[in-house]
Amino acid sequence: MKVFETFRSFEDFMGYVFLQKERKAYSKELKFAFYICRMISIVVGTNRKQSVSGQVAQYYKTILDSKHEGDSQIVDLADLPSDFLDNALYEHNGKNKIFNGVRDKVQSSDKLVFIVPEYNGSFPGVLKAFLDGLKYPEGLRHKKSALVGISSGPQGGVLAMSHLTDIFNYLGMHVLALKPKLAGIEKNFDGRQITNDLYNQMLQEQVEQLIKF
Ligand SMILES: Cc1cc2nc3c(=O)[nH]c(=O)nc-3n(C[C@H](O)[C@H](O)[C@H](O)COP(=O)(O)O)c2cc1C
Repeated sequence: MKVFETFRSFEDFMGYVFLQKERKAYSKELKFAFYICRMISIVVGTNRKQSVSGQVAQYYKTILDSKHEGDSQIVDLADLPSDFLDNALYEHNGKNKIFNGVRDKVQSSDKLVFIVPEYNGSFPGVLKAFLDGLKYPEGLRHKKSALVGISSGPQGGVLAMSHLTDIFNYLGMHVLALKPKLAGIEKNFDGRQITNDLYNQMLQEQVEQLIKF
């Protein structure tokens, strides 16, 4: 699409988009650009089938959709092809169509929410492998993100989110400071809704901050 080829950086492109918006000069490309710019993707940070993280992502989406005017979507790492380690990374980068579909959803979003389950005191290895398959170095650069940690134990993914924040900052992605830690998730989530008032308050607050971020 021509409009995308004219700009050196995403920020240049965004400047153009908002100028055209002020002028109310809506072309077909611009409408598509607005659609992309307003998309918030909620990434389920594990490929475990029927994960609690996936259910929390659904719940998060209901909060987000009640406050955000643009679109949102869930990107579940459970949709990655099970053999992607063999045929989507390194010299195979870009060759696996199913992997690329998941990757494109992430790379074309302006903002991202990561639901991060705590696995062995950190975030799941599959999430790191997925990140290693993104376009480097520009895959996440200049995007904005929010993290939600969940765990069975008392830490609420605090270390997992800290490890991930280091990586995201290294890749040039901004991470919202407010990172809800949903510890003891089995006691505070019934599969559909978070039942802990403080957790709900933190999630609502995070969504509001992410929209303004
Ligand atoms: C491989 C693995 C490692 C885990 N390690 C921890 C851990 O270190 N600390 C903890 O509190 N919970 C740990 N858990 C529990 C998860 O944090 C918990 O089940 C949470 O609900 C998210 O998992 P899910 O999204 O895969 O369902 C682990 C679970 C798995 C599958």
